[in-house]
Amino acid sequence: MNNRYGTLTSWVYNLDKPAGRSFGDIEFYQERLRDCRGPILEPAVGNGRMLIPLLEAGLAVEGFDASEEMLVYCRDACRARGLEPKITRQTFEGFSYETRFEAIFIPLGSFQLITDLASAKIVLRRFHDHLLPGGRLMIDLDPIGGFFSADSVRSWTTPEGDLLTLTGTRVETDFVAQTTVSHLRYEHWRDTKLIDSELELFSLRWWGVNEFVLSLTEAGFDEIVVSGNYQYGRFPRKDDDSISFEARRPM
Ligand SMILES: C[S@@+](CC[C@H](N)C(=O)[O-])C[C@H]1O[C@@H](n2cnc3c(N)ncnc32)[C@H](O)[C@@H]1O
Repeated sequence: MNNRYGTLTSWVYNLDKPAGRSFGDIEFYQERLRDCRGPILEPAVGNGRMLIPLLEAGLAVEGFDASEEMLVYCRDACRARGLEPKITRQTFEGFSYETRFEAIFIPLGSFQLITDLASAKIVLRRFHDHLLPGGRLMIDLDPIGGFFSADSVRSWTTPEGDLLTLTGTRVETDFVAQTTVSHLRYEHWRDTKLIDSELELFSLRWWGVNEFVLSLTEAGFDEIVVSGNYQYGRFPRKDDDSISFEARRPM
């Protein structure tokens, strides 16, 4: 199964991007969501990196994620801060709520984890149907330059002094479907001995800006605003690191 976010993957994610670690996005979403009085949903909430500071800012955010390992980090971090958000294990493809939300937001390119175009369009429609009339959908996508990114090696030291390494190797690039598959090999080393390893098959879909605007329109959204580098309303430029879309479910 691809994009599994298993044991080592989640451990590394939580070391690298703990609750509150911002790329400029936490401040951006806090500002964009500031006037929300109703419930807010973060699909693919992960370890609560963004959920937790937003809860601490007084926003009524809840979330779901497909990975139990990621949710354990989220629940533990919430508990440690005395927070009790509604967090469930669900997927983009199957999630369902009785509640209708004032806003739904998906930061950090997580929407790109849906690699099949038809499925992605159905998920956009599902977001639309889970919003209150006038509610807003906010999605960040990585610029398409990442489609050509190189292989990578990274490492982290755990608080106990163990070494965690990540070697990423691109194994498939589909220029027609706009998808990539990488082998993310995670290894846990102690005293020069390998004690655990995990292979994450990591798949992404890379969207064109206008293609995504058209898909949001097709899913029933209007008032679409596209922003570069978390500067709301400033259309993306070619060297921007992030692209944010905000769209409204009509009243
Ligand atoms: C890059 S992390 C983002 C976590 C968090 N939103 C953040 O901003 O730090 C991507 C998350 O998507 C989750 N995920 C992957 N595939 C999913 C799916 N089909 N449905 C729901 N969540 C999924 C992973 O388990 C992981 O927690």
